Amino acid sequence: MKQLLLIPGPTPVTHDVLQALSQDTIAHTDERFVKIMSETLVKVKALFGADKGHPFVIAGSGTLGMEMSLTNILNDKENLLVISHGYFGDRFIDIGHALNVNVDVLRAPTGETVPIETIERTVKDKHFDALTITHVDTSTGTLSDVEAIAKAVHSISPSTLIVVDGVCATGGVKELFDDWGIDVSLHMFSEGCCSTTWVNNVCLFRTSHCQEKVNEDNSYLLRRYSALDARDGGPSQVLCNTSSQYGLCTE
Ligand SMILES: Cc1ncc(COP(=O)(O)O)c(C=O)c1O
Repeated sequence: MKQLLLIPGPTPVTHDVLQALSQDTIAHTDERFVKIMSETLVKVKALFGADKGHPFVIAGSGTLGMEMSLTNILNDKENLLVISHGYFGDRFIDIGHALNVNVDVLRAPTGETVPIETIERTVKDKHFDALTITHVDTSTGTLSDVEAIAKAVHSISPSTLIVVDGVCATGGVKELFDDWGIDVSLHMFSEGCCSTTWVNNVCLFRTSHCQEKVNEDNSYLLRRYSALDARDGGPSQVLCNTSSQYGLCTE
């Protein structure tokens, strides 16, 4: 009997995906792999409405994508505002502390979101280098109005980078990277997009905004992804896993 998995992610996948997974392994330096990866990146940009975004496809967990997002844009002692409406929103607090940045938190009661007026007041009173929003917090299913928050914050503080955790949302609800003015977003193919686990994480960086903020201090491997892109000035893509093996293919 076929089993049906009914959680937010990982989700069941289609037969086509299962068949693709059963093919022989090819190396990450193989030109066939480079072709597949290049096509994937074009499709990823279309899927996420991210013509201005530079995508990185990573084999790793959602938390890796959260950490990669902040590691690349924040330097020691810079200011991070975490807007949290649940368990996964709160995780950005720990990641921020681990990166030695100053963390302020706006937290909503369970099942609610932080009012937009509170966010506006907070970013008027203090400069934040970046803020995080969880589009849907899986712990409660609460959906935040990312479009309204991004537009309001950028109208008050255009240099504050907006980081969106779309792990549980993207593909399931509308999320438009370019139109909404998102600067960094992270996603899992295995949740809203109903694809497979483990080649599953995409981070998008809006290079025009993020390039000057590429962090020179905080990491080795995670920083390389954006740093490589900034140096090349063109599309470079990295596939990695959490045990620090990585391959680079440049179009
Ligand atoms: C909204 C959200 N963010 C981040 C994560 C972290 O992902 P992972 O457990 O793969 O590290 C999850 C996991 O379910 C999630 O639902």
